[in-house]
Amino acid sequence: MNKKTQLLHKKQEQALLGGGQARIESQHNKGKLTARERLHFLLDEGSFEEIGMLVIHRSIDFGMEKEHYPGDGVVTGYGTINGRLVYVFSQDFTVFGGSLSETHAEKICKIMDLALKNGAPLIGLNDSGGARIQEGVVSLGGYADIFYRNTMASGLVPQISAIMGPCAGGAVYSPAITDFVLMVENTSYMFVTGPNVVKTVTHEIVSSEELGGAATHASKSGVTHFACTNELDAIHHVKKLLSFMPQNCEELAPALSYESKDELRPKLDELIPENTTQPYDIREVISEITDEGSFLEVHKDYAENIVVGFARLAGRSLGIVANQPAFLAGVLDIKSSVKGARFVRFCDSFNIPLLVLEDVPGFLPGTDQEWNAIISNGAKLLYAFCEATVPRITVITRKAYGGAYDVMNSKHIGADMNYAWPSAEIAVMGAKGAAEIIFKKENSSAEDPNARWIEKEKEYSDLFANPYRAAERGFIDEVIEPSQTRKKLIKAFKMLENKVVNNPRKKHGNIPL
Ligand code: HXC
Repeated sequence: MNKKTQLLHKKQEQALLGGGQARIESQHNKGKLTARERLHFLLDEGSFEEIGMLVIHRSIDFGMEKEHYPGDGVVTGYGTINGRLVYVFSQDFTVFGGSLSETHAEKICKIMDLALKNGAPLIGLNDSGGARIQEGVVSLGGYADIFYRNTMASGLVPQISAIMGPCAGGAVYSPAITDFVLMVENTSYMFVTGPNVVKTVTHEIVSSEELGGAATHASKSGVTHFACTNELDAIHHVKKLLSFMPQNCEELAPALSYESKDELRPKLDELIPENTTQPYDIREVISEITDEGSFLEVHKDYAENIVVGFARLAGRSLGIVANQPAFLAGVLDIKSSVKGARFVRFCDSFNIPLLVLEDVPGFLPGTDQEWNAIISNGAKLLYAFCEATVPRITVITRKAYGGAYDVMNSKHIGADMNYAWPSAEIAVMGAKGAAEIIFKKENSSAEDPNARWIEKEKEYSDLFANPYRAAERGFIDEVIEPSQTRKKLIKAFKMLENKVVNNPRKKHGNIPL
């Protein structure tokens, strides 16, 4: 080997060591993998091509000119996952705590630009102490360069952020703009200001985990879509998520080969309880309808009154939005509306057809909901469905009441096929409330008001608590036996495969944020 090649090898070896063996051990002792180990598990073996391995920072303040680590705290490049091209960056906590310098940001921007130009997903593995403190404003500028590119890439290529360590300050806004955020329990956290600042400003005493750990963001804030048990679990989830998505907004998600078999699902005929106020788990309906074991629930622990996630139907990728009668009776509230809206918009951006399973008693009443803007937030879900141009099918399993009937992908707002089960109740409101309003005067003069109420309630219920009024109008295309649902959906989504809808040309809409 000649001297010049030896020099190259020396530089490469130095880069591979990041911040050095001691810091690598410290990373391992915290139960964390290194930036390169994470990429090893994420990408197909031997597929990673690194870009910018020898980049060093340009800082000369605070003695920084004497401390250089090739790569400058982030490993960037491209590779494949199950044979499909992806662009990646993986922050290296062993180098200045993975903090973001001007050059670190430039490396990330370079691969973001490549991802955009070449139409392939971008995956960020975040593990960083935030802005490189020794660099000041150039580091802030670097963050803004990334935020800008995240926004430009939104809706063009899928963007996934896995949070593997700290992610604090304004740094949190890059993951927040991306499509999916995953966090690792106990070793990752996200917050705009940490526990010390919180204590000073609000006098609250709170741990990092409580303030911004995976469990908090998975259940309380909804900032993360997945709380993963460890880093390998997070990497597994990234790969699974990607399998449902196309490379970019011009393409379709890859389909798995599928051989048609008996598509009847008799179990569904027994699922809806006789008593219409009794709950059942909508996930059972999802697992019966979709390909076995294919459902990947998103935002599982947040706003559980709506269930969203990806699944396959006859091998094809599908986005599912379903009211959950087993939680708050499946009512729509602020959180569930926003959760549903964001998911619908993702699916529509990336050509993933939507299946809606509807069992909704209406919007949640109360001062808390009204004062926190259920009106504008509920409108987000309505808007998201209205503007979606992908194939859209609704199955009403039980209740479809009030405004929620309109919102949940009704025929009127552009759904392509609307099915209802015989158990469906499609009306302005429940029979009891309706009877109290329309028969108020009549009832007050009755000899036995109680008996009269029950009679009037029954009258309203017999007339409207069924799917047939809507079917007579054509708002429901077909009333189907539950066991037939999977069979019908496979055919209908195939029928809609070549759907083309062009919404009116405009700069962009103004979703009620
Ligand atoms: C430079 C940093 C750094 C930073 C950590 N390091 N954060 N270097 N800039 N932001 C270095 C440490 O000096 C140390 O170097 C090494 O990384 C590991 O840090 P430790 O503190 O030893 O690790 P740990 O105990 O695990 O604590 C991790 C940490 C803590 C919680 C992230 O380091 C920390 O609080 N860092 C500062 C966080 C911060 O305030 N960042 C700026 C936020 S403002 P050695 O040489 O010992 O290995 C911000 C604005 C962004 O980010 C705005 C965007 C719009």
